[in-house]
Amino acid sequence: MGWDFNELRQKVQEEAKGIQDIQGLEAFRIKYLGRKGLIQGIYASLATLPKEEKPAVGKRANDLRSLITREMEERKKAVESSLQSKKRKGDIDVSLPGVGQEFGRSHILTQVIDEICGTFENLGFIVHESPEIETEFYNFTALNIPIDHPSRDAFDTFYLEQKDCQNPDRNVLLRSHTSPGQIRIMETAKPPLAVVVPGKVYRPDAVDASHSFMFHQIEGLLVDKDVKFSHLKGLLSEFCRRFFSEDIKMRFRPHFFPFTEPSAEVDISCYICGGKGCSVCGRKGWLEILGCGMVHPKVFEAVNYPKGKYTGLAFGMGVERVAMLKYGIHDIRIFYENDIRFLKQF
Ligand code: DAH
Repeated sequence: MGWDFNELRQKVQEEAKGIQDIQGLEAFRIKYLGRKGLIQGIYASLATLPKEEKPAVGKRANDLRSLITREMEERKKAVESSLQSKKRKGDIDVSLPGVGQEFGRSHILTQVIDEICGTFENLGFIVHESPEIETEFYNFTALNIPIDHPSRDAFDTFYLEQKDCQNPDRNVLLRSHTSPGQIRIMETAKPPLAVVVPGKVYRPDAVDASHSFMFHQIEGLLVDKDVKFSHLKGLLSEFCRRFFSEDIKMRFRPHFFPFTEPSAEVDISCYICGGKGCSVCGRKGWLEILGCGMVHPKVFEAVNYPKGKYTGLAFGMGVERVAMLKYGIHDIRIFYENDIRFLKQF
C-alpha cells in the first residue's frame, strides 16, 4: 500500500490547528500515535514492502511521527494558555463556593468522657487506661468479690474461653466494670495517687432502653494516708456541681460493694421534675449516678500494700447514664446507632 506522505503531513497540520481542549488533544494522540493509530499502521505495512523501498518509507514515517509530536506539544501549550486567560477573563467563576470538607466532631460519649475526666484532672487526678480483656483475678478476686458471687457466673460476664473452675483466677474475660483498673494502678504505683480510668465494659444483658451489652464507665481511685469519707463526699459533691450545675442536690445512700467499706450510691435530684417526682425518676425525685466507698482493706492486701498504712476512696460511674441525665436522652441504644441526626445535635 502506498502512503502519500505530503498529503498526510498537510492533514496532520490542519487537524492540529482545530484542537481546542485537552480532550481534543488526547483524541488526536490516539488517532495518530495510539497502538492502533496511523503511525503504527505504517510501521506494520513496512513488512509487505519490497526490500529496497523500506528504508525510504521508514524514514518518512519517522519524520511524520516527529511532526505529529511537535504539533501536539504546540497545541498543548496553546490550550493551556487559553485556559489561563479564560480564568483571568472570568469565564470561569473563581468566586463560586468550592467543594468543601465537612467538619467532623467527637461522639457525644467521647465528649462526656473528656468532660468528666477533665473535671477530675482539674481536681488533681490523672487519667489512666486499663485493659478491656482481663482475668478473673483482676475483675473479681483482687476486688474481694467472693468465688460464689453471681456476677462471676457466665450469664453475667463474657468469658473468652471455657471457664476453668479449678483455676478461676486465670480465666480470661471482657471486664464487666472498670474497677480492675484500681488493681492495675496499685500494682504499679505507690500512694499518694489519684487516678480516673475511663473505658468500655461488657455484660451479657438483654438490650433495651436502659441496658446495653457494652457501655462505658469511669472509675476513680484516690489513695493516701488519712483519706476519709468526708473527702469522698467533698470530692463527689464538687464534681456534681461542676459537671451538672451549681444548685444540683445530691445524696449518699448506704449500699454494699465488696471492694469498698463503707459503700454508698450517689443520687442527684431529678433533672426533669427538680425532685418533685415524675416518670423518669420513678416518682422518687432522685436519680442514681454512681457507686462509691472507702477502699476495702482486702483490696490493699491483694496489691501487697503494707497493712494499715493507707486509706483510700473509690467510685465508679456509668458514662451513658450520666450523659442521658445531663442531656435528657431516654434510650441508651441511640448512642450506638450512628444516626447523624442525633449525633450532630452535640
Ligand atoms: N464497679 C461498680 C459497678 O460496676 C461500680 C463501683 C462501685 C465502683 C463502688 C467503685 C466503687 O469504685 O467504689 O457497679
